[in-house]
Amino acid sequence: MSTSICAPIYIGLMSGTSLDSIDAVAVRFEPGFELIACHSQPIPSAIHSSTLALFNPGDNEIERLGRLDLELAELFATAVENLIRVNHLDRQQIAAIGSHGQTIRHRPEANFTLQIGDPNLIAERTGITTIGDFRRRDMAAGGQGAPLVPAFHSALFRHPEHNRVLVNIGGMANLTILEAAGDKPVLGYDTGPGNVLMDSWIKQHKQKSYDRDGQWAAQGQVLPQLLKQMLALPYFSETPPKSTGREQFNQCWLEQIVNALAVKPQPEDVQATLLELTAVSIADAINSHPLSDQQVFLCGGGSHNSQLRSRLSALLKPHYLSTTAELNLDPDWVEAAAFAWLAYRTLNRMSGNVPEVTGAAGYRPLGAIYWGN
Ligand SMILES: Nc1ncnc2c1ncn2[C@@H]1O[C@H](COP(=O)(O)OP(=O)(O)OP(=O)(O)O)[C@@H](O)[C@H]1O
Ligand SMILES: [Mg+2]
Repeated sequence: MSTSICAPIYIGLMSGTSLDSIDAVAVRFEPGFELIACHSQPIPSAIHSSTLALFNPGDNEIERLGRLDLELAELFATAVENLIRVNHLDRQQIAAIGSHGQTIRHRPEANFTLQIGDPNLIAERTGITTIGDFRRRDMAAGGQGAPLVPAFHSALFRHPEHNRVLVNIGGMANLTILEAAGDKPVLGYDTGPGNVLMDSWIKQHKQKSYDRDGQWAAQGQVLPQLLKQMLALPYFSETPPKSTGREQFNQCWLEQIVNALAVKPQPEDVQATLLELTAVSIADAINSHPLSDQQVFLCGGGSHNSQLRSRLSALLKPHYLSTTAELNLDPDWVEAAAFAWLAYRTLNRMSGNVPEVTGAAGYRPLGAIYWGN
């Protein structure tokens, strides 16, 4: 029997800001990284709408939050059970689940971030040791609590000769800069919106959950005045460490700026401008760290948006642009794999954060352990 068959399996669970689905992966880290199985768990519409509703302050918040904390945990446990059942995984080999949880608030300026989906319940339902609440230890140490994926990107994707940039385009977008020389600190931060504004604008105008391949955006013209006003938001010029969420980039913010325009814009022109905002804010961030011979790899759902990719390619020339598929990890599973890795680190008493990225006072083991049966 080879070591890799005996090495423990870690499960990663990710439910991001887009609320598109729950991503579950099973991976091994020894002797090297191996993606064993993946599963995408749909989010029932009732849970989708109660989560969306909790993104904004409102009546009876604590009761609603308490209920959703449990409903999401049941759904996370179901995602794990489906992952195990469909892929015939051996439960005895599973060391732990790393569950990101659903972010309901992320307010680093107030040292406050909240991810829900009770890990007690996940451990109870699955019988598997579950690690959750990854962000708050970093915050307690003075960090942003985000982004946490750069440590995983560095462990998996750093190359001895090529300077690499990893860009995750989820609801928000975040990048990780990995200089070829291994002793250089990892850089990483949230660049701003990924898909979240495009998703909410197309939902409002076309009742679609996302703009497939940026087709609708491609029918519009970028509105320079709107783009300029959006890019004037202080977040874009702030120096890292920085991280953001729906608190900053949401439909309300977008509507305020759109409604203040002198002429009412065509909806497809706004969509084109939102796609350009995502592309420009990512490209500006990358270009502000000039490195020779940079290779840029995309992951997250936005990496499938061909219109966005082609704008990024133009803005990043002459840098090489591809997706993590070329690095042997499907772009859809990078984030979930990162939380499996963070669980692996914590269970083995190792740190999970990068202090240079989050601004924390030092390296910390992240999350709390909820033991399985
Ligand atoms: N073919 C596609 N064309 C355009 N957009 C796509 C396509 N496929 C996926 N997407 C976008 O990707 C989004 C989901 O991305 P992802 O799952 O990485 O984000 P997330 O769940 O918010 O994660 P994160 O934690 O990184 O924010 C969808 O909401 C959609 O906007
Ligand atoms: Mg997702």
